[in-house]
Amino acid sequence: MKATIDHDASSSTSAAPVREAGAAPGLLSGEALERRLEALMHQDRFAPPTRIVTAESVNEASLHARAEHDPDAFWAEQARTLDWDVPFTTVLDDSNPPFYKWFVDGKLNVSYNCLDRHVEAGRGDRVAFHWAGEEGERLAITYADLHRDVQRLANALKDADIGKGDVVGIYLPMIPEVVVAMLACARIGAPHNVVFGGFAPEAVKERMEVSNAKALITVDGARRKGKTAPVKAAVDEVMGDLESLETIVVVRHAGIDVPMTAGRDVFFDEIVANADPICAPEPMEAEHPLFILYSSGSTAKPKGIVHTTGGYLTGVSSTHRHVFDLDPERDVYFCSADVGWVTGHSYIVYGPLCNGATSVMYEGAPDYPHKGIWWELIERYGVSIFYTAPTAIRACMKWGAEHPNAHDLSSLRVLGSVGEPINPKAWLWYHVVVGRERCPIVDTWWQTETGQIMISPLPGLTETKPGSATFPLPGVVADVVDETTGESIEQGQGLLVLKRPWPGMLRTLYGDDERYVETYFSRFGNDTYLVGDAAIRDKEGYLWIVGRIDDVINVSGHRLSTAEVESAIVAHEKVAEAAVVAQSDELTGQAIVAFVTLQGELEGTPEIEGQIRDHVAAQIGKLARPKRILWSDDLPKTRSGKIMRRLLRDIAEGRALGDVTTLRDPTVMAALEQKIVTAQADER
Ligand code: WTA
Repeated sequence: MKATIDHDASSSTSAAPVREAGAAPGLLSGEALERRLEALMHQDRFAPPTRIVTAESVNEASLHARAEHDPDAFWAEQARTLDWDVPFTTVLDDSNPPFYKWFVDGKLNVSYNCLDRHVEAGRGDRVAFHWAGEEGERLAITYADLHRDVQRLANALKDADIGKGDVVGIYLPMIPEVVVAMLACARIGAPHNVVFGGFAPEAVKERMEVSNAKALITVDGARRKGKTAPVKAAVDEVMGDLESLETIVVVRHAGIDVPMTAGRDVFFDEIVANADPICAPEPMEAEHPLFILYSSGSTAKPKGIVHTTGGYLTGVSSTHRHVFDLDPERDVYFCSADVGWVTGHSYIVYGPLCNGATSVMYEGAPDYPHKGIWWELIERYGVSIFYTAPTAIRACMKWGAEHPNAHDLSSLRVLGSVGEPINPKAWLWYHVVVGRERCPIVDTWWQTETGQIMISPLPGLTETKPGSATFPLPGVVADVVDETTGESIEQGQGLLVLKRPWPGMLRTLYGDDERYVETYFSRFGNDTYLVGDAAIRDKEGYLWIVGRIDDVINVSGHRLSTAEVESAIVAHEKVAEAAVVAQSDELTGQAIVAFVTLQGELEGTPEIEGQIRDHVAAQIGKLARPKRILWSDDLPKTRSGKIMRRLLRDIAEGRALGDVTTLRDPTVMAALEQKIVTAQADER
């Protein structure tokens, strides 16, 4: 049995718990739901529920105190929950900041920690993933199954001359093989470089090129909402001349014919079937790179974020236990992210497997084959912990409460949110319609760079406020500081920074130590990590993430760089110049708006607009296509020729223009505004 705790009796929070307004209602929809949400809008705090979380998460109260008193001891204690081949004696090595190292003299193998130790402890029959395919296929994949397949694939990779330190690209949809591929790489110390399936093959090529990948594991075709897109053939079209790439492994999933190049291309199932079944896990140095994951920054060149072995696994496994109050014996966990993003790496693959959890993995889109598929899966597998993104919640709100209401969601006990600020209305809808007003919501703030969740409520402990990620987790030191002086701001808005190294932090940017220091540590020095987000600290110390301070756009929780999208647009033959800004969007959080100047005398037409959008889809991926393109004869620039994005953002948001006095040619703005007003009139 789970321990039940009575919040009133645990003097864990300073403020008295707040009773929720009104009695818990039945299943609401339509006007009754609107009225309930409206009533809850006036409630500023939500007490942690008393009956559905374990005692463990309440014990975190003491963890907070201990972590504050001795953070190294706290993280060492978390690290000791892993299996080490060579125990560490050093916890944090900060002798060369900001190149921090954790558990540096220890050795361990990530795949051993995620698989073998569970199998050896007699838990091989436990389901690791209930996999649900788009067309209704069902697979229960146990820890023993993964253990078997990972060893075979690891041996097959070795047979292909891939070993410790060789980078392996992975470009796969949400199928079980993606997990096998990542763990097989981890087993032999080959850092993987996963590229989100929604990126275009061009983007994959770039990421393979810059990381010098020796192999790529991909798929015949990807299924999406009933259609099949050829993936291997598309990869072939762009990948041809990449010298480092010696092997392409192809998973047969969609059942379509694929072109295979003799001597380079092999089928996943064939090499696995032919491989030796036993592959001993190789002990890795704690600081050995586990993976590279490319993410968007302020320039067009994506950043190769490097994560290592011991610290990363410590960070993701401990936070996965604490933040979700995980009980691996009983919980069924469902994270709806894609493995191609950091959330998938940390909280679909490494955290949950290290903890021996049972997860649900869904191949498809949230509205295919129908808009209730997530709720159907939650009911079918008895999901108790559900982790998704605000943008998905807003889409579900639009589709209507009748979809979740049609399913038995009583197994749920903890709900998570990640990727972007969650607006209070979406938070309340999640709370009422999905959580049925019984489940705590953990709004988890973190980044690809942080590797692990950094700021979040603990479900049995923290009083939540809709829209606030609340407080740093034990062992994490966050601050809100003045952007010029770097002084701590007790109450109000400033820049979010992290003041103390943490085990899951990135170690560098692949092949670019200088950019690592410049991006994250040049502003306030080597002991203050600049997050790139603005945040507000309220009078009770709650943290509210406002959004990015750099040129990164967050579309549906997907990180994109304005510069990357601009350079894709400018690469189109008809375009002379482009500037990309974010505009707030009810559904996707932010949307991409592009201001485009065409070559010569060309006039903007819907046809050219379509071509530009297709071009961006081919260069980066459909997710980067601008939602709006606004034609402009000229762009507002400073006297030194820098595009003033601030003014473009004002136009995109329909706000009054900010200061235009620094413009080289102030008439540009008037012309641009005039043109947009006319265009909007035309639309109507
Ligand atoms: C944003 C995703 C508000 C933030 C794990 C951050 C959030 C960026 C939250 C990282 C949250 C992530 N509340 N904003 N709970 N979680 N963000 O690297 O701007 O894809 O810097 O990592 O997403 O995005 P990334």
